[in-house]
Amino acid sequence: MSLPSQVRLIEVGPRDGLQNEAQPISVADKVQLVDALSAAGLGYIEVGSFVSPKWVPQMAGSADVFAQIQRKPGVTYGALAPNLRGFEEAIAAGVKEVAVFAAASEAFSQRNINCSISESLARFAPIMDAAKQHGVTVRGYVSCVLGCPYEGTVAPEQVAMVARELYAMGCYEVSLGDTIGTGTAGATRRLFEVVSAQVPRDKLAGHFHDTYGQAMANIYASLLEGISVFDSSIAGLGGCPYAKGASGNVATEDVVYLLNGLGIETGIDLDALIAAGRQISAVLGRPSGSRVAKARSAQ
Ligand code: HMG
Ligand code: MG
Repeated sequence: MSLPSQVRLIEVGPRDGLQNEAQPISVADKVQLVDALSAAGLGYIEVGSFVSPKWVPQMAGSADVFAQIQRKPGVTYGALAPNLRGFEEAIAAGVKEVAVFAAASEAFSQRNINCSISESLARFAPIMDAAKQHGVTVRGYVSCVLGCPYEGTVAPEQVAMVARELYAMGCYEVSLGDTIGTGTAGATRRLFEVVSAQVPRDKLAGHFHDTYGQAMANIYASLLEGISVFDSSIAGLGGCPYAKGASGNVATEDVVYLLNGLGIETGIDLDALIAAGRQISAVLGRPSGSRVAKARSAQ
C-alpha cells in the first residue's frame, strides 16, 4: 500500500498532555498554548475535558479555557466528555466537537471511568443522541489497544469489537490509543489489519504514547497500513493519570518532521510549532520532550 499524500494531526497536548501535570497551570497559559498551536497551522486541537475534577483536577478550568481562546476559522476545538453531564457542560462552553473514550480492557475501563466497557458504551448512547440534536460531532477513543497496565496483553479482536461499537453508534472517527506505549510496529500493523475488518481505515486514527520509544515506528507502520490521522502532543507532553508510566505522547514536532521528510502534507509550520512547544515547556519548567525541538535548540 502506498503512503497517504495528506495526514491530519489531532493535537492533544492541552488535554492529554496537561491532564497529567500535578502543578497548577493557569487558564492564561493554557489559552496561550491553544492559540499558539492554531497559529502554527494545526487544524484540530483538543482543548480540555469535561470530566470530574476529583478524578482529573487539572482539567477543571476547561470551560474558562474555551471562553478565552481565539477561535480560528477552520480549526476544530474538541473536548472529552465521559457522560451526559460532561457533554452538557461542553455544549454550554460552546464546544462543537466532543470525544467519548472507552477502553479495550475491562480493568482500565474501571480505573479510568469507573464502569465496565459495556456500561461505558451505554453511557455514550445519550451523548450521541444529544450530539445529533445539537449538531455536534463525536470522535471516539479506544484505550489500551496494544497493552493494558493492569491486564497485560490485549487481543486486537477485543479492540475491533469496541471500535466497531463506537463507529456504529455514530463516532465519525475512532482513535486507537496505545495508552502505555508498549506497542511495536509489528503489533501495530496487525492491529490495524484486524480492526479495519470492522471499521474502515479512513475512519481510524492512531494515538501513540512514546513510553517505550516506539511511537515514531508505530506511526510509520500505521502509514503503511493506510492510516492518515494521528493524535500527537506538543513537546511530547502527556500521559494518562490512570495508566502508571504512560508518560509522553508522541511529540507533534517530531511527527511533523517525519511527515515533512516523507513529502506528506500537513499544513503545519514546524518552526512555529517548535516555538509553541518551547513556550509551554518554559511554563512547566522542564525541557521539551520533542527530539526535534531539542536538536534545534542545540544548533
Ligand atoms: P464516578 O465517580 O463513577 O461518577 O466517576 P459519579 O456519576 O458517581 O460522579 C462522581 C462525582 O463526579 C460526583 O460529584 C459528580 O457530580 C461528579 P460529587 O457528588 O462526588 O461531588 N461528576 C462530574 N463532574 C464534572 N464533570 C462531569 C462529571 N460527572 C460526574 N462530567 C466519571 C465517573 C466518568 C465522572 C469519572 O470517572 C471521570 O471523570 N473520569 C475521567 C477520567 C479521565 O479523564 N481520564 C483521562 C482521559 S482518558 C485518556 O487519557 C486516554 C486517551 O488519551 C487515549 C489513550 O491514550 O489511550 C483518550
Ligand atoms: Mg492518551
